[in-house]
Amino acid sequence: MRVAVVGATGMVGQVMLQVLAERNFPITELIPVASERSVGKTVSYKQKDYTIVSMADAIAIQPDIAIFSAGGGTSLEYAPLFAEVGTTVIDNSSAWRMDRTKKLIVPEINAHTLTSSDKIIANPNCSTIQMVVALAPLHKKYHIKRLVVSTYQSITGTGVKAVRQLKNEYENAKGEMAYPYPIHRNAIPACDVFEENGYTKEELKLVRETQKILDDRSIAVTATAVRIPVVGGHSESVNLEFRNEYELNDIRTLLNNTAGVTIQDNPDTNTYPMPIYAEGKDDVFVGRIRRDHSQENSLNMWIVSDNLRKGAATNAVQIAEYLLEKELV
Ligand code: A2P
Repeated sequence: MRVAVVGATGMVGQVMLQVLAERNFPITELIPVASERSVGKTVSYKQKDYTIVSMADAIAIQPDIAIFSAGGGTSLEYAPLFAEVGTTVIDNSSAWRMDRTKKLIVPEINAHTLTSSDKIIANPNCSTIQMVVALAPLHKKYHIKRLVVSTYQSITGTGVKAVRQLKNEYENAKGEMAYPYPIHRNAIPACDVFEENGYTKEELKLVRETQKILDDRSIAVTATAVRIPVVGGHSESVNLEFRNEYELNDIRTLLNNTAGVTIQDNPDTNTYPMPIYAEGKDDVFVGRIRRDHSQENSLNMWIVSDNLRKGAATNAVQIAEYLLEKELV
C-alpha cells in the first residue's frame, strides 16, 4: 500500500501521519508531499524520517491512496492528476465536497455507498462531521425537520498560522496574523469568508454538507460559526426539531449505541463535553441532552470533538481503512 500524504507538514497533515501510525495502517511506502519550499526536508513517521517530495514526483510513483490536506486550490489542481494514474484520493479540502459526482463520506454513515470507481472521495468539513455522527441515528428514527447550530471552533482548524498568532498574542510578541483581529480573549463570529447572502462559507458548509451526508435535502439547517481561542476541538450547540415525538431516554440509548459517540452528561457531577478532554481522542462527545420546552418534539445538545482527529485525519484514515477492507483500492 503506497500512501501519499499531501500537505504532510501542515496542521492536519501532521495528525494524519500520527493517526496512520497509531492505527497501524498497512503502509509499504509512505510518500510525504508538501509545497516546493518544503521539498527535501523531512517529516517523521513511526520514529523514522521521510523526505518530502514534490507533487510531480509523488504522481510518478502512482500511489494507491493519496490523502490530501493542502488547501482547496491544490486539491482542485492535483487530485484529478493523481486519479488519472489510478490513485484513490481522499480529499480533506472543500474543493470536491459539493460536486454531484463526488461522494462526501463519514464512514459510520455512508461508506457503504463507495465503489472502486470513486477515485476522488471528499472528507467533510470538521464541524459537519462531528455533528452528523451524532445526528444520523436520531434522524433515522425521528426525522429532523429543522436544526439550528452555533459553533465554538478551535483555532487549529485555521492551520499553523492561527496557532502561531495565538501564541504571539499570549507572549505579547509581534507576528503574522491569521485573523483580522486578535483571537486571544476574543470570539470572532466569522469562520472562513463571507458569501453574498451574509453567511460565511463555514456556515454554508454546515447546511449543505449535512443535507448531502444525511441524504435529505428537506432538513432545514441554519448555522452561526464562531472562532474562539481554544486548541483542543470544536464545540457545538445544536437545537433539533423532529417530525416525530421522542422520549429523552430513547435518545440517550440510541446515542449510547452509536459507534463513535460517547455521552458525557450528568449535571449532578458537572459532567459535559469540553475541548480540553476531547483533545487527542477520536470520539464525538455529546452532553447537555435536554428537551427544548419552547417547541414540540425539540431537543438541545452540546457536541464536542477534536477537529483535527475525527473532524479531519481520523475520518480520512477510516475511509482509507474501509477502502482497503472492501478491496476497493
Ligand atoms: P508547506 O509546509 O510546504 O507550506 P496548514 O493548513 O496547516 O497551513 O498546512 C497546509 C499544508 O499544505 C502544508 O503541508 C503545506 O506545505 C501544504 N501545501 C500548501 N500549498 C501546497 C502546494 N501547492 N502543493 C503541495 N502542498 C502544499
